[in-house]
Amino acid sequence: ATTTDVRHFLEITDLSQAELETVLERAATYKRAQERGEDHADLAGQTLGMIFQKPSTRTRVSFETGMTQLGGHAVFLGEDDIQLGRGEPLKDTSRTLSRYVDAVMARVFKHENIEVFAEYASVPVVNGLTDDAHPCQTLADLLTIREQEGGFEGVSAAWVGDGNNVAQSFVLGCALAGIDLTVATPEGYGVDDAVLERARELGGDPTVTSDPVDAVSGVDVIYTDVWISMGQEDERDVRMDAFEGFQVCSSLLEHAPEASVMHCLPAHRGEEITDNVVESEHSVVFDQAENRLHAQKALLSWLLE
Ligand code: CP
Ligand code: NVA
Repeated sequence: ATTTDVRHFLEITDLSQAELETVLERAATYKRAQERGEDHADLAGQTLGMIFQKPSTRTRVSFETGMTQLGGHAVFLGEDDIQLGRGEPLKDTSRTLSRYVDAVMARVFKHENIEVFAEYASVPVVNGLTDDAHPCQTLADLLTIREQEGGFEGVSAAWVGDGNNVAQSFVLGCALAGIDLTVATPEGYGVDDAVLERARELGGDPTVTSDPVDAVSGVDVIYTDVWISMGQEDERDVRMDAFEGFQVCSSLLEHAPEASVMHCLPAHRGEEITDNVVESEHSVVFDQAENRLHAQKALLSWLLE
């Protein structure tokens, strides 16, 4: 039942360093083509299935419009709109969709669920966020950093806040790209040891601290995300206490006066970031959001080549 000759994108490390560079270069090309109004219908006649077990604004709209711009089509499959929501197994959904569509993007809770889905799929499967990883976000983030900094050489970044799905993929992405990263999280909310280990295997050397000021001092990029991810709503009170002092605010930015501030969005102003920082000239959050579109178009056309 398993298919091994299909490329999936479940984690940013499913790309080699060279492949990452190829996809980012293609993303920049698509961005220019779109800005100039040039035709780039490279996926004419192809269909992307999009499974969502959690809500989404950016992921849904960027994949759907991306497929349209590439001359193809996307089908939105909310969990409760398909039989998955009534208990049809993922492995059956995977094999069925594989007979219709050319690629599947899925946003699920457990990371192992997307691995099962991919194991049974005979078309490329793209991770649109799991509890552990958000590699499409990392692609867009790396494209944004490349635009801001002109490349990755000598770039330093700090992750401040929860060591969540977005953080974990960013840690791996920085290792692949050669970005010097410090991760500042409260005790008990760090990225998984296995992720740090993988980053080191890839040649990265992430510094781990629980001091946000230390982490951001003099860096080029500061990145944060929500303290309460989708599915963690019951942990609100304990998380709000744990993350005190980890807010990205003006006084933290005094230690990194030149830094770009990144956030995958949606932002919870007054929690992990202040309104004035989101609205400041440091903020590149809407470039990141836009770059989801260009990066994912590049990824899809590369996977479907
Ligand atoms: N950043 C991101 O994935 O946003 P959505 O949840 O809106 O898709
Ligand atoms: N960490 C957040 C990211 C949302 C795009 C979550 O998982 O809810």
